[in-house]
Amino acid sequence: MITSKKILVCVTGGIAVYKAVALVSKLTQAGAEVKVMMTPSAMEFVTPLSFQAMSRNDVYYDTFDEKNSQVIAHIDLADWADLVLVAPATANTIAKLANGIADNMVTTTLLATKADVWIAPAMNVHMYDHPAVKRNIEQLSKDGYSFIEPSEGFLACGYVGKGRLEEPEKIVQLVETHFSPKELPLKGKKVVVTAGPTREKLDPVRFLTNFSSGKMGYAMAEAASKLGAETILISGPVAIKAPQNVKLVNVESTEDMFLAVLNHFETASIVVKTAAVADYKAKEIHPQKMKKKEGEVTIALEKTTDILSELGKRKTSQILVGFAAETNDVVHYAKGKLKKKNADYIIANDVTEEGSGFGTETNAVTLVGKNDIDIHFPQTSKKELALQLFRMIIELEKDETL
Ligand code: PMT
Repeated sequence: MITSKKILVCVTGGIAVYKAVALVSKLTQAGAEVKVMMTPSAMEFVTPLSFQAMSRNDVYYDTFDEKNSQVIAHIDLADWADLVLVAPATANTIAKLANGIADNMVTTTLLATKADVWIAPAMNVHMYDHPAVKRNIEQLSKDGYSFIEPSEGFLACGYVGKGRLEEPEKIVQLVETHFSPKELPLKGKKVVVTAGPTREKLDPVRFLTNFSSGKMGYAMAEAASKLGAETILISGPVAIKAPQNVKLVNVESTEDMFLAVLNHFETASIVVKTAAVADYKAKEIHPQKMKKKEGEVTIALEKTTDILSELGKRKTSQILVGFAAETNDVVHYAKGKLKKKNADYIIANDVTEEGSGFGTETNAVTLVGKNDIDIHFPQTSKKELALQLFRMIIELEKDETL
């Protein structure tokens, strides 16, 4: 399964480095192409020669030792890898990465890579339990890094507890599962996701908008794409990067978003309206900047097109999923919107809950749908939640259109 997969193993300085030698050996035996990078402290435990012999490749440890003048080694390796394993990962390297510090070849490469990075911590039980280490691990999880939890047992420091580098066999197994062909339940389907806020101009320098960061919608698009769908992401103005393998359509106003969605609606299997669409727009956009005046100013507003309702009227076989940002009686209002907008599902989002709603990395929602479906999804990262929501909708629809 991992034949020809390019795996960069970053070894940092802890006693578990000896296990990393076995890990590199097993990955190579399983057919992977393995390259190893070491921190200076890792080399206090084992010499690069051991890793060179096991990987049958040069070992990298000096950012300034450019072996090939055609490339810059740490960028080249960062781009080369299909997967980066940091094993063992010390508290020190975890802290550096969590804070964006790049002071050796390993940390510099970790900041430069776009590949998935898995971190396998190994340290003393009390160090692993330290609030600073926990904080850094939490930050890195939010940043999208994955962790291979240490196992429990005898530690080199004499303690018994959690902190042992996971066994090399187990890590190889995880890598094999990662590269095994995935179930792609949305293969051959087109999914349209809207995300972010819309902007309604008042004059050339002012507009009405809201606090949507786009994170939930972008996570929905990423999940759809990971599950195999051809994914169209129609986004209002946000400051985040689009996930890989999705077609991004940038829009500004509600009307732009409506037209962009209509463009793809007929051929879509699922439409997910995560966007926080402005409900009102100025009746008249001032062609020049409005001048400050004494006293109150009244701006006449009118309703924007309710895109979800319009799609509800037009839908044929499409599964229509709306979101509902609410501050009270969340499920009750979501059920009302489900009916009123003729949607198949509404994902009710209590935006007053800490760690949920606008701008946060995490979210908790309730999926309401036809046949009185009412399923709560507890707080987790928006990326994980998006996958859970799609999987649930696919399960609920498996006897129908999907
Ligand atoms: O972007 P983030 O910072 O990650 O925040 C995520 C989120 C809070 C924006 C998201 O989880 C969410 O709840 N999105 C829906 C917000 C919203 O506008 O809710 P609403 O109750 O006003 O609208 C209900 C549904 O109708 C939504 O699917 C909305 O896209 C749609 N709508 C609303 C108004 C309108 N004119 N046209 C629409 O299509």
